[in-house]
Amino acid sequence: MINNISEIRQEYTKFSLDITDVSSTPFIQFKEWFETAIKSELFYDPTSFILSTCGKDMIPTSRVLLLKGFDENGFQFFTNYSSKKGKNLSENPNASMLFFWDKLERQVRISGIISRLNDSESEKYFNSRPYESRIGAIASEQSSELNSKVDLENKIKELKIKYPSNPPRPINWGGYNLVPNSFEFWQGRESRLHDRIIYTLNEGNWIINRLYP
Ligand SMILES: Cc1cc2nc3c(=O)[nH]c(=O)nc-3n(C[C@H](O)[C@H](O)[C@H](O)COP(=O)(O)O)c2cc1C
Repeated sequence: MINNISEIRQEYTKFSLDITDVSSTPFIQFKEWFETAIKSELFYDPTSFILSTCGKDMIPTSRVLLLKGFDENGFQFFTNYSSKKGKNLSENPNASMLFFWDKLERQVRISGIISRLNDSESEKYFNSRPYESRIGAIASEQSSELNSKVDLENKIKELKIKYPSNPPRPINWGGYNLVPNSFEFWQGRESRLHDRIIYTLNEGNWIINRLYP
């Protein structure tokens, strides 16, 4: 039994980040931190991030997803378009991605506008997935109520018979791309005096500023 969670306290001391340290483009800065997270081998899955969306009900929701690519055109991930997040995004394309690499004491917050990848990009990634994951993507009505696990297991068995190889991508499964309009890089520091650098897009140029912790 944990009695007093308010006594759990960590100091953040490993690195620092100043405006003079960062790249002039946030994509290069992200690449640097992302590669450091991967190379450090400190994380089970350094590509995981939290995506927050908000539909027309104005109630924000968050979930963990996996990043599958990024470049100057945006950040890509894959999911079910009929899921809760898919519905939210069809109502409101504004979203936020959050990476937290705790052992590096780093957080990156990226805000932007999301749109669907085209069919050929979704197809390419779908076909690169393991067979079992492709069958799972067809079987799963992601975010709908599942009455019994047996229903899902039976559906998977039937799909494996129907598609012993090359299961087709469902039309409601594919990729999204987030085009960023803001990035914030957060580096933990002693006594909660953390370093924060924000990049904001202004008429095509990235403006860089410090933020109070
Ligand atoms: C480590 C981890 C990675 C995940 N990766 C994905 C992913 O890439 N795509 C996806 O659709 N769901 C992924 N999920 C599941 C989502 O968190 C979420 O449960 C699911 O997408 C349904 O979300 P929604 O109901 O908000 O649409 C992942 C979960 C975890 C914990």
